[in-house]
Amino acid sequence: MSAELIDGKAFAAGLRARVAQQVPAFAAATGRAPGLAVVLVGEDPASAVYVRSKGKMTCEAGMESFEHRLSAETSQEELIALVDQLNADPAVDGILVQLPLPGHLDSEAVLLRIDPDKDVDGFHPFNAGRLATGLPGFVPCTPLGCLMLLEDRLGDLTGLDAVVIGRSNIVGKPMAALLTAKSCTVTLTHSRTRNLPHYLAHADIVVAAVGRADFVKGEWLKPGATVIDVGINRVDGALRGDVDFAGAASVAGAITPVPGGVGPMTIACLLRNTLVAAHRREG
Ligand code: GUN
Repeated sequence: MSAELIDGKAFAAGLRARVAQQVPAFAAATGRAPGLAVVLVGEDPASAVYVRSKGKMTCEAGMESFEHRLSAETSQEELIALVDQLNADPAVDGILVQLPLPGHLDSEAVLLRIDPDKDVDGFHPFNAGRLATGLPGFVPCTPLGCLMLLEDRLGDLTGLDAVVIGRSNIVGKPMAALLTAKSCTVTLTHSRTRNLPHYLAHADIVVAAVGRADFVKGEWLKPGATVIDVGINRVDGALRGDVDFAGAASVAGAITPVPGGVGPMTIACLLRNTLVAAHRREG
């Protein structure tokens, strides 16, 4: 292995500590801590783990955590009523509705209902539009975390060739917008791209978010490339990324491990977005 490991776990701990450091000044100025509300509908075990972890880290950062656990049978009307209540609650700066929602619920309608100024997930179309047009708003936490790791490693990204693999609204599309805003030349590829190795051969930066274990092969990479692996795929009980780690690590200049790479950045960026939301709301 020649690639350097990008330690997302350590970077995320540092970011959480920097956020926590700023909370007392906010509390002194406003008489309250920043508040994050997390809504979990149903019993999905992976979601329950995420939500517990979010609540714990929110409290560790000195913020207020409001957890709302609703039964899997919750109706659309009940969920919308809760979102309305959180939108109106002055103690709540950020609202996160854990996805995926049970199948009978309309996720799009729920996300659309969240006040865009409390949308710390950055999933509301207003915030997607703000990102696409270069206006200040909220950026989804996972691509924001990827960008922080890239800038930490590479500094100024201007002019670099970046290939994003995956076109989801949560990672691929906002990642491409963020890298474009940083003056990279961005190619947005996906599972149906005809000749992925052709694009990767020129890529200084690769962000893999396609949701298929070991999809990206080491021999496709440009030597020295910086590789960010967003994938979390369970294979025979083990976690695997979207990149064939052993193959890629012998070609890349730097690579994120799975786990311990991008994953921890998501919650750290959520806390950062919540602090930003709190400051903006207090104006
Ligand atoms: N499910 C898995 N990750 C996330 C996330 O970052 N935000 C929300 N809302 N749901 C998720």
